Amino acid sequence: MELNPHNIAATLQVLRDPAGIPSHPAVFQVLMVLTWVFHILFVNIALGSATLSLYGFTRRQEPQWERLSIGMTKAAKVSVSMLIVLGVAPLLFTQVIYDPQWYASNILSASWAIGFIFTLILGYSSWFIFYFKNHQGAKPAIIVWGIVGLAMFVLDGFIMHALSYQALLPEQWMEWYAPDGQVDMSGSTIHAWQAGRFLFFMAMSITVIGVFLKAYAHYYKVREDYAADYRNFVNLLGSKIAIVGLVLQLVTFVWWLLSLPEHLHGFANPMSWIIMVFLAAFALLLIKQADQHHQTSYKPLFYAAIMALLVAIFRELIRIQYMLPYGYDILDYKVMEDLPSTALFFLTFVGVGGLVGGFFLTAIYKAGRTQGVYQASKPVAKLADSAVGVMIVWIAIFFLVGIWVWLKNAL
Ligand code: HEM
Repeated sequence: MELNPHNIAATLQVLRDPAGIPSHPAVFQVLMVLTWVFHILFVNIALGSATLSLYGFTRRQEPQWERLSIGMTKAAKVSVSMLIVLGVAPLLFTQVIYDPQWYASNILSASWAIGFIFTLILGYSSWFIFYFKNHQGAKPAIIVWGIVGLAMFVLDGFIMHALSYQALLPEQWMEWYAPDGQVDMSGSTIHAWQAGRFLFFMAMSITVIGVFLKAYAHYYKVREDYAADYRNFVNLLGSKIAIVGLVLQLVTFVWWLLSLPEHLHGFANPMSWIIMVFLAAFALLLIKQADQHHQTSYKPLFYAAIMALLVAIFRELIRIQYMLPYGYDILDYKVMEDLPSTALFFLTFVGVGGLVGGFFLTAIYKAGRTQGVYQASKPVAKLADSAVGVMIVWIAIFFLVGIWVWLKNAL
């Protein structure tokens, strides 16, 4: 079949879920963009801290590097679990409004999409071995576990990138599915990727780990076992790394813009300029403050979160533009308004997410800043009780709604 924008548009329409979606598409779009910000920040912290811990490991004769290597190994271990959990939300939202694109891309590279899970398990297991073995006086050979772990994480990032990118190119799907008319059902090929875009996310990991180090130095300020020397070393290192990262981000961002199809007019997009100005201003700010290694704060980490939000919006804006020639507009997705499920979703988000998430974050934050055993204060203990309470209410509502729907249909 000859493909033209007209019948690609028709194909995309029929690939949509005929059951429609339960709320206005913009709701899913906003949630997708927002939740992805958290995913990518933890991707960046994981890749950055894993790289830094391996580098620190090679310099572990110096006590500060040894300590940092051990600390970053732990940070990477936690961040990988966070990025996985926080990847689920945008994945679900993408699948709701961009289901034709996401599923087609995944099926066309199915072996990679499935292999992603196994390589992630392999990488994470390998990283855990490195984590268990990376302590004072560790044997040099254990670095192999860390290298395998990091290599798998980067590979998984690449697979994620290819799946996201292939989803934007529906005019090529037929050629990938049946090259020269011969159907290829193996799903064993990565069909398309964009170096500038992928490397931009890798460069962003350098920036984010830099500002993460600065926040780390600030966080441990209150602990006596984190001497000023070590904290200053980490803070200064963080500034240097973040500055390098921001410069690389600027270069790779321009590369990304240059690789965009002409009709997207990458350089005419105001968001492109907002991002470039932001990156440059952020770098200049850090350069200006670079010699103040005694001064620590969470501000740079906060700026990095804003940067991630801008990138997330840009990513979505160009996806909308990529889809324009095919008349694909999420706003005309069939809506089957389902108020109870939407209400339940938001109540869960605010109630369970707020109280349980809030409790964990508060307790972990405070516990980490305490030397020795952490004793919860009264407000934190109250927050814990409320978190347990809201979970009980949530489970009760979950079953009651299920039983109610079941009885309503059965009787
Ligand atoms: C080490 C593991 C992972 C790495 C390094 C990673 C990295 C990335 C990167 C770099 C992107 C942006 C790609 C682009 O726009 O070109 C991305 C997007 C994404 N990732 Fe991950 N990721 C990982 C694991 C996961 C997991 C486990 C999930 C889900 C449970 C997930 C869900 C997503 C989603 C939904 C997107 C956006 C897709 C879209 O907008 O269409 N990621 N990831």
